[in-house]
Parts: sequence; C-alpha cells; structure tokens
Amino acid sequence: MSEPLLRLEGVGMSFGGLQALADIDLTLADGELLSVIGPNGAGKSTLFNVISGIYEPTAGSVWVRGDKITRFRPDHMHAKGIGRTFQIARPIGSLSVRDNVLLGAGGHRMRHLTTALRPRTKDVALRDRVDELLDLTDLTGIAHHSASALTPGDQRRLEIARALADEPAVVLLDEPAAGIGADGMRPLADLIRAIRDRGVAVVLVEHYVGLALSLCDRALVLESGRILAQGPPEQVRSDERVIRAYLGTRRSGRKPTSTEEADSE
Ligand SMILES: Nc1ncnc2c1ncn2[C@@H]1O[C@H](COP(=O)(O)OP(=O)(O)OP(=O)(O)O)[C@@H](O)[C@H]1O
Ligand SMILES: [Mg+2]
Repeated sequence: MSEPLLRLEGVGMSFGGLQALADIDLTLADGELLSVIGPNGAGKSTLFNVISGIYEPTAGSVWVRGDKITRFRPDHMHAKGIGRTFQIARPIGSLSVRDNVLLGAGGHRMRHLTTALRPRTKDVALRDRVDELLDLTDLTGIAHHSASALTPGDQRRLEIARALADEPAVVLLDEPAAGIGADGMRPLADLIRAIRDRGVAVVLVEHYVGLALSLCDRALVLESGRILAQGPPEQVRSDERVIRAYLGTRRSGRKPTSTEEADSE
C-alpha cells in the first residue's frame, strides 16, 4: 500500500497554557478535497501552520508520504509538495501580479527578488506554467498590475496562483472566500474545483460552511482544538453535535457562519 499524502497522529499544539490543537488524527489522500470548519479560534490556522512546518507540534507526529517530519522547516515542506495560502493575503506589493506568481515557483528560497526573478523570466517552461496559472485564476488581464493595487478577490486568487506555482501535491487554502463578496463566491468555487480536477489535493479552511461542504469529499469540524466530527459532508451537516456547536449559529463575530447564508450563493 502506498502511503497517504499526509498523515497526522495525535498532533497537539500548545502555546503556553493554551491548547490550540489536541489529539488530531488525520489522513489525506492524493487528490482529495478536505474542508476544515469550526468557529473562530478553533485551531484551523494552527493546523495549517503545523502541516506547513511553520510550527513544530508540541505532541504527536506528521508524516508526508510516509516520511516522518522530525525537523520542521517551511521550505522543506514546500519541497515535499505542500503549498498554502495565508488568512491574510501576503503578495509582494512592489512586484506585478505576474512576478508574484513567478516568485511562487520556489522563489521563497531566494533572498534577493531581482536575482531570483532574472533567471526565471528566461525559463520558457516556467513562463508557460505561470501564464497557465494566471489564466486558471482569471488574472491574465491584470498580470502587469502592481500587486499592491488589487481588489480583495484578486488578491485571494493571486495567493492561490502563487501557492500552485511550484506544482504542489496538496494546497492548503486558509479562508479564500474572506472579504471577496457574494459575486466572488461562484468563481472561487469553480477555481477550487478546477484545482482538484488537476489532481491537486486541497485542504480548505472556510467560514462559509455552505461553500466548504458543497465542495469537499470529506469534512472535519474543529472545536477548541479538537476534532468534533469528521466524515462525508452530508453526515457532518446532520451531526447533532456539529449543529449544536457550530452550524446554524451566528456568532457575534465578524463572519457569517450559517449554512443558509452560504448556501444561497
Ligand atoms: N502564535 C500563537 N501564539 C499564541 N496563541 C496562538 C498562536 N496562534 C494561535 N494561537 C491561539 O490558538 C487558538 C487557535 O487559533 P487559530 O488561529 O488556529 O484559530 P482559527 O480556527 O484559525 O480561528 P479564525 O477562524 O479566527 O481564523 C486561538 O486561541 C489563538 O489565539
Ligand atoms: Mg484562522
């Protein structure tokens, strides 16, 4: 049997006295689309930070294709085929949209932007890949615009294009729908499906529960750092514990969480 793309066993992460994650067991197969939902502070972004090597978990282990990750390094995870976006989009504002995507292709390892970009602009295969990603993310028309002047929706799609530039096996998307408005929902859903259709596995963290559950093969619900439920989306949607703890409640916070609202997109 081949090893799963990703496996977490007993993963915990504490920050001082705060247990952000506890007892997380999780596997992800190639090409699978997993949605992770849960209220603010549930540990979703922390889970991404552990998987992408930004945090070393304080308990448990992570395996990527059967290799136990002992020394965590973000660039190492990148080399292993893990791409990600951040909850707060982080394009390099001084560069064009196109150069931001170009730089995503391993550019994080380069110290100086200009020397990193110079050899890349001559690489025809890489240029073609960037063109194709700009097309996929509907950014071709603004490829030469400065990344600092983008709408939130364009920024989100640029983040996704950058995360795909190194041809990862899995991409971790942290709230790609945040701030994009109702008009952006359907194109975003189509984009996420298109990524999966390319054979790239996706882990989607999303507050828009309807969007998250309509796209995924499997959903995982986090609450207070623990897995509350896990399974096919229809099972999770009807799970009493999930409904009580999360679905259908509108928290006083900044984001809508009701299924109705997100379903109506
Ligand atoms: N670097 C850190 N230092 C201390 N506490 C942290 C750190 N990162 C996260 N936390 C805490 O861990 C808990 C989980 O945070 P996390 O950001 O993972 O939640 P989340 O599910 O992504 O929430 P949101 O939906 O608001 O993005 C929170 O209580 C948060 O304050
Ligand atoms: Mg978060």
